[in-house]
Amino acid sequence: MDKLVIEGGKKLKGEVRVSGSKNSTLPILAATLLTDDKCVIRNVPKLRDTLTMIKLLRSLGKTVDYNNNTAVISGAANSSSADYKLVSTMRGSFCVMGPLLAKFRTAKVSLPGGCVIGIRPVDLHIKGFQALGAGIEVEGGYVIAKAKQLKGDLIYLGGMFGPSVLATDNVMMAASLATGETIIESAACEPEVEELTEFLIKMGAKIEGKGTPRLVIHGVKKLHGAEYDIGPDRIEAGTFVLLAAATGSTLTLRNVNYSQLLVLMDRLEQCGVKFKKGKDSLTVTGPKKLKPVSVTTYPYPGFPTDLQAQFMALMSITPGISIITDKVFPDRFMHIAELNRMGANIRRDNGAAIVEGVRNLFGAPVMASDLRASAALVLAGLVAKGKTEIHRIYHLERGYENIDEKLKKLGAKIYREKE
Ligand code: EPZ
Repeated sequence: MDKLVIEGGKKLKGEVRVSGSKNSTLPILAATLLTDDKCVIRNVPKLRDTLTMIKLLRSLGKTVDYNNNTAVISGAANSSSADYKLVSTMRGSFCVMGPLLAKFRTAKVSLPGGCVIGIRPVDLHIKGFQALGAGIEVEGGYVIAKAKQLKGDLIYLGGMFGPSVLATDNVMMAASLATGETIIESAACEPEVEELTEFLIKMGAKIEGKGTPRLVIHGVKKLHGAEYDIGPDRIEAGTFVLLAAATGSTLTLRNVNYSQLLVLMDRLEQCGVKFKKGKDSLTVTGPKKLKPVSVTTYPYPGFPTDLQAQFMALMSITPGISIITDKVFPDRFMHIAELNRMGANIRRDNGAAIVEGVRNLFGAPVMASDLRASAALVLAGLVAKGKTEIHRIYHLERGYENIDEKLKKLGAKIYREKE
């Protein structure tokens, strides 16, 4: 296993190309289970998570060729049971449940279990499947769904923490092959759900309300193969924007859709960060002196929970006080302890994190705990005085394609070492 070593204090400069979106790729790869025809998906980022999903598709009988960020998926799935070992390493693979149920009228997928960002319930997924007529059993750590015929219905899919991205994906995919019309109220509006909707429509699904909280799906008998180019990863883009802000650098991001980053840009402009928009590029200039801004995360188009840890790392070196609350994953604060080990001054107060900006962070050996917390530690390591060692970087490799290479090209002193 590797660790990442970062010598902090270097300014970054230059251009970075944003890779394809991990969270669009996973459900779109799952959606290829809905047809036996060939599908070609381009700009698939090479990540632990996308490779796990490809392994899962192969374990279900699909043929998958993956080269140069293009996945060619063909053949008929021959199993409706998703392997525990694979699902337990990546919660996102629970989104194969909807396609398997639609295709086989039965599906058996391991419960995703919890992770460090919080418990990962699937009650909304189950509610959606039951509304479509499936009988559900939960036993031995598996969710087992059975349905003679999936039938469309009106489904309210909002939960205590708002809409669910993957529950919306799962129910939309199952409804695509149900009889009749399904209406999903309180559907998630994340751009990644919108991309899945686009792909399903290319496969012949009849869906209205793309990108809105109300999806209307008219079930069809069959879906055919399709080709799709995955859009840019808005969370990777947001992470690089925050890196530029934290290091006081000017960076140009290529292959970015900044209309998906408006809330981050709005908050960072209040901090003093400057932006210059290009056709599919964004130039970011971090200020000499940052101003503190408080942030609360919400479902899209609110501030993304997947940028909360990185934003907290930025606020940890911003003079003044900022308050950070996560309304999507209220306990997503594992990164506080590691940032404090680097000299940050962050404390929890009820559901919020109170960040008192310090003049400097100091390099230290730290432990990555989840994907976005690892990104926060990279940001902290880049600005800290001295050397930071980030252990368990497989968390980082789940969601950031070649991030150390990309940072090296921007002038960061960062390298891998064997643990
Ligand atoms: C997706 O996870 C993303 N993962 C997450 O990104 C992201 O943080 C999350 O959406 C929120 O934007 C993928 O797309 C693969 P949710 P998902 O269901 O769909 C609660 C990353 O770093 N909930 O939208 O699993 C849940 O506990 C990952 O790339 C229920 O209560 O998240 C949470 O509080 C981390 N019941 C809220 O809803 C359910 O049945 C939103 O979760 C499902 C979810």
